[in-house]
Amino acid sequence: MIHQKRREELLSMLGRDAVVIVSTNSEQKRNSDVTYPFRPDSNFWYLTGFTEPDAIAVFSKESYVMFLRPKDETKEIWNGIRLGVALAPETLLVDQAYDIDTFFDNIDSFTQKRSVIYFDAPGSGGWKDNSSTNIHNQRIHSLFESSLKPLNPCISEMRLIKDKEEVKNMQDAADLASEAHMSAMRVASPGLYEHNVASVFDSQFTNGNSEHSYPPIVASGENACILHYNENNQELQDGDLLLIDAGCEINGYASDITRTFPINGKFSEAQKEIYGIVLSAQKSAIDSIKPGVSCNKPHETACQIITDGLIKLGIMKSPEDLTKFYMHGTGHWLGLDVHDVGVKLINDEFREFKSGMVTTVEPGIYIRRDDKIESKYWGIGVRIEDDVLVTEAGNHVLSKKAVKDIDEIEYLMSQR
Ligand code: GLY
Ligand code: MN
Ligand code: MN
Repeated sequence: MIHQKRREELLSMLGRDAVVIVSTNSEQKRNSDVTYPFRPDSNFWYLTGFTEPDAIAVFSKESYVMFLRPKDETKEIWNGIRLGVALAPETLLVDQAYDIDTFFDNIDSFTQKRSVIYFDAPGSGGWKDNSSTNIHNQRIHSLFESSLKPLNPCISEMRLIKDKEEVKNMQDAADLASEAHMSAMRVASPGLYEHNVASVFDSQFTNGNSEHSYPPIVASGENACILHYNENNQELQDGDLLLIDAGCEINGYASDITRTFPINGKFSEAQKEIYGIVLSAQKSAIDSIKPGVSCNKPHETACQIITDGLIKLGIMKSPEDLTKFYMHGTGHWLGLDVHDVGVKLINDEFREFKSGMVTTVEPGIYIRRDDKIESKYWGIGVRIEDDVLVTEAGNHVLSKKAVKDIDEIEYLMSQR
């Protein structure tokens, strides 16, 4: 029902004569005859609830049609059950279903008389990018070229505001990942390797019938200064920090959480100084979030606090130095995709927060070796990241179960 409501809402935004073609991914080969685990395209999942590969939905005010993989006894014995054409109408509530291989024989009857067809290819760099590996998407592009319009602007606006069920999934994803972050704090100690700690997330996510929403970053010592580090293969050293950026997916909805803690369970004074600045920046940035406030306010708030803090410690000389130590944004939308859809700028101005949006808040400080900086700060990389739902009253931190105050972390780690 929820998917039907979404399709109707989308069509009401697109206009009376709109027809929408939305396709999902094909399985992707990893090597030889091994494929990567399949993950449906987010727009397709959002509008249909159907999670098999190789499917295309076509809908308008008059009809809802699904093209999907046919039943195939041999393939189902080897690779799993398929819904198939016959059961699709009662299961997916489509008016008609067809074998995906007949898409180009049948599509004209649903698109004729339409001058505008809304379409986006999954996994591509946008609606004009026809580099998708899905052969159908390439042909759709060449067939309808001049009639195609991008679906993304409208559907992105819809996906930006989460309903109750979506929030529930995101809360569950945040809870599961928060628990895993705290387990990691209990497990980490000098002599283990980053991948030993990474395995805590693998295990807890699998146990929770979930999976990673992106490759986890388990970065000890100065590896934390590499923003997308994910080799996760170094030995944990006494006296270093461990930065972990890991989240999971529940029914497609992501969490995205970062915690940084001392491998031996006790922050050094220098680590406390840097961690304290990031924590204060993060808490103030979260406090700034409420409906009607610019969505850039958390970033402005965090930048100001980090700038003041690093100048006070003598690490920065002037505000212009900030990007040397804090070179990424303070947050992004979160939902079915970890970097979820939705623009931040409208007519060149930052949009305002609205109830139902979910954003991350993730300031950090990364200090690489530099002779101009006191050596006690070298190799300190700290990021603290929470998932924040905008509510009518202000905001709710979905990931608040994962401790982040210095005394809470040290207490938890003292219980090992
Ligand atoms: N984990 C990806 C990010 O924080 O944006
Ligand atoms: Mn993030
Ligand atoms: Mn993250």
